[in-house]
Amino acid sequence: MENNSINSKLQVTRSPAESLVLPRWLEGQKALVTGANSGIGKAVALALGAAGADVIVNYVSEKEAALEVVEAIKALGSQAHAVYADVSNEEQIQAMFGEMFRLFGTIDILVNNAGIQQDAPFHELTLAQWNKVIGVNLTGQFLCSREAVREFKRRGIVPSVSCAAGKILCISSVHEVIPWGGHVNYAASKGGVMLMMKSIAQEVAPLRIRVNSIAPGAVRTPINTQAWNTPQAYSDLMHLVPYQRIGEPEDIGRAAAWIVSDYADYVTGTTLFVDGGMTLYPGFADGG
Ligand code: BGC
Repeated sequence: MENNSINSKLQVTRSPAESLVLPRWLEGQKALVTGANSGIGKAVALALGAAGADVIVNYVSEKEAALEVVEAIKALGSQAHAVYADVSNEEQIQAMFGEMFRLFGTIDILVNNAGIQQDAPFHELTLAQWNKVIGVNLTGQFLCSREAVREFKRRGIVPSVSCAAGKILCISSVHEVIPWGGHVNYAASKGGVMLMMKSIAQEVAPLRIRVNSIAPGAVRTPINTQAWNTPQAYSDLMHLVPYQRIGEPEDIGRAAAWIVSDYADYVTGTTLFVDGGMTLYPGFADGG
């Protein structure tokens, strides 16, 4: 079918070299990306590095993978270091920010990316699964954002670096608005991220601190392998994606590099959906 040949072209992953040609809009800025050793976090860390930012690559597992991301960022001409911390642990977060300030002096950009899924039918969802997912996906974003805002407030605007005093980007999900049975803890965490982000944005806007979210749809990462790694799964997934291709991590990386740059200076308190139209109610295209 013709559709299939279009699909196979669209599914081709761009080479890292092509996808990382970005203008160096973030030259001189210091960024921290949580969960940056794989998936969307890795792509965002690489994109910020390609755009000129020096990057702290946070990880909680797979240190080797984090070190590879560090080397890749250095090859793009920016500085990078890997720093361990579990984002749900207050002491570890404060230690990580201390380490960042020792290495880079300050922070200009925080990307709250670290996130997990622990799925179960609702009647089997355990309190441990609930607490773990809320702890990493929501409390983790709170703890990191608070440390970043404290430093943004202390330092203020440095006009030669950025016209904002700081930028926070929360990696949310289409599930901040799309209910998701079997994933109640995850959807609750992302719905929480939405109003946490907007409330922080409202509070700190007078300080010229910008706070936004990117809500990815289905992106080809380890968190959702079962949704795309067989032809049947991929074809089922396409019923939910009007644009008829899965997202690549670089799709999120490029959007992130823009939204934290001064080219998005008047953008705050908003969620940018990068989802191939997943939030467009695709079932209504020929129904309703
Ligand atoms: C989830 C993925 C899922 C996607 C679209 C993401 O937030 O982590 O597992 O494929 O949303 O449903």
